[in-house]
Amino acid sequence: METREQETRESVVGGLRIAWDGRVLEPRPWTAAQAEWLAELSPQAPEGPALELCSGAGHIGLLLQRLTGRDLVMVDANPVACEFAAANAAAAGLAPEVRNGWMDEVLAPDERFALVCADPPWVPRAEITRYPQDPELAIDGGPDGLDVAALCVALIDRHLADGGHAVLQLGTAEQVDALLAANPPQRLRLDGVRTFERGVLAHLATDGREVS
Ligand SMILES: C[S@@+](CC[C@H](N)C(=O)[O-])C[C@H]1O[C@@H](n2cnc3c(N)ncnc32)[C@H](O)[C@@H]1O
Repeated sequence: METREQETRESVVGGLRIAWDGRVLEPRPWTAAQAEWLAELSPQAPEGPALELCSGAGHIGLLLQRLTGRDLVMVDANPVACEFAAANAAAAGLAPEVRNGWMDEVLAPDERFALVCADPPWVPRAEITRYPQDPELAIDGGPDGLDVAALCVALIDRHLADGGHAVLQLGTAEQVDALLAANPPQRLRLDGVRTFERGVLAHLATDGREVS
């Protein structure tokens, strides 16, 4: 029997109809700005596919694919999120590759992406009880909220193509500073932060060096 948590709901984000239920994070309309920023950057990026880390129900990556026409790989550890992402893609006439698994286990070492968006959980573990409606895996960022974000930065550092662009979502500009200070990337520089009412977006660009 379907539980209340499993009742399918629908949100419209960036013109896309996105189905989801209580086992995944509710798509938040402001996050369309992440796809739109990457789409602005796309003409300056090399050819090649885009990657979304922590894709959830998929609206950000799917909007990015619709706006840029690039091939897209979407990654999420939650199998239910991946099922929604695949179904939402099909409903929108899009065809990303959806990979279900831990992000550090599903990318081949030599894969390179021209654009990357990453939406890791960023709530400090002690505060997640403030958001009982949200699944723990979607919001628990570890003791300081930055565990999964640090993993995203390491993967972006390794897998972003030369001349490529990434946009990472976090809660505050202070988190961006703390994250990069504690986990300095080898070949990425911070190229700007845009602040929204419910979160921030940080633009990371390559400085041309290959990761050693
Ligand atoms: C903040 S939610 C973002 C979901 C979606 N992008 C959105 O904006 O609604 C974070 C997502 O990351 C996934 N996740 C958490 N840790 C992960 C990991 N280590 N590897 C892959 N996915 C992970 C969760 O399942 C969740 O769907």
